[in-house]
Amino acid sequence: MLDHLTLVQHPLIQHKLTLMREKNTPTAVFRQLLREISQLLAFEITRELPMTTRRIETPLCEMDAPVLDGRKLALVSILRAGNGLLDGVLELIPSARVGFVGLYRDEQTLQPVQYYFKVPDELPERLVIAVDPMLATGNSSAAAIDLLKGAGATDIRFMCLLAAPEGVARMKEAHPDVPIVTAALDDHLNEKGYIVPGLGDAGDRMFGTK
Ligand code: URA
Repeated sequence: MLDHLTLVQHPLIQHKLTLMREKNTPTAVFRQLLREISQLLAFEITRELPMTTRRIETPLCEMDAPVLDGRKLALVSILRAGNGLLDGVLELIPSARVGFVGLYRDEQTLQPVQYYFKVPDELPERLVIAVDPMLATGNSSAAAIDLLKGAGATDIRFMCLLAAPEGVARMKEAHPDVPIVTAALDDHLNEKGYIVPGLGDAGDRMFGTK
């Protein structure tokens, strides 16, 4: 069982994250680093996937070798920044189904507003991994998890790159059953809801918008 918050402080992740934080890191490099980190985080978030064995033949002998037990998976990207984590994880788990939750943050109220929701069927049977690089206020993450639970998901994990203490607390209060896996827990949110020290607007930095 994963803890409510897992900080993955592997040296490779920390190094790549530092490069991402630097304000002059180019868009293409930022995107590539995010993809690489997503795969390293995926190792942690899938650590307890059920296993079985399959009888195989190596060039030397037969053996009962470990294989995944065919647990159905859904990756759900919280748009639009979630897409930066999605492809890397999907490359590792190509059979996963993919969903999208579209939420934007009202800059005045900082509250999430839904504009898109499309998820795979059989959600109640799937392990659902929701991905969004920035867990800031936690309002949109908690709202996305509300929607996933409303669609029947019961086993949900949340993957992010950076978390703010405020966002972790909000998620713990709203969804104590949803473990969070993150590369770093930053210091605080500023008055605009940005994570400090953070890396700025993840969507803008990965897509080159402002
Ligand atoms: N979303 C971002 O992209 N960055 C933050 O710092 C907070 C929310």
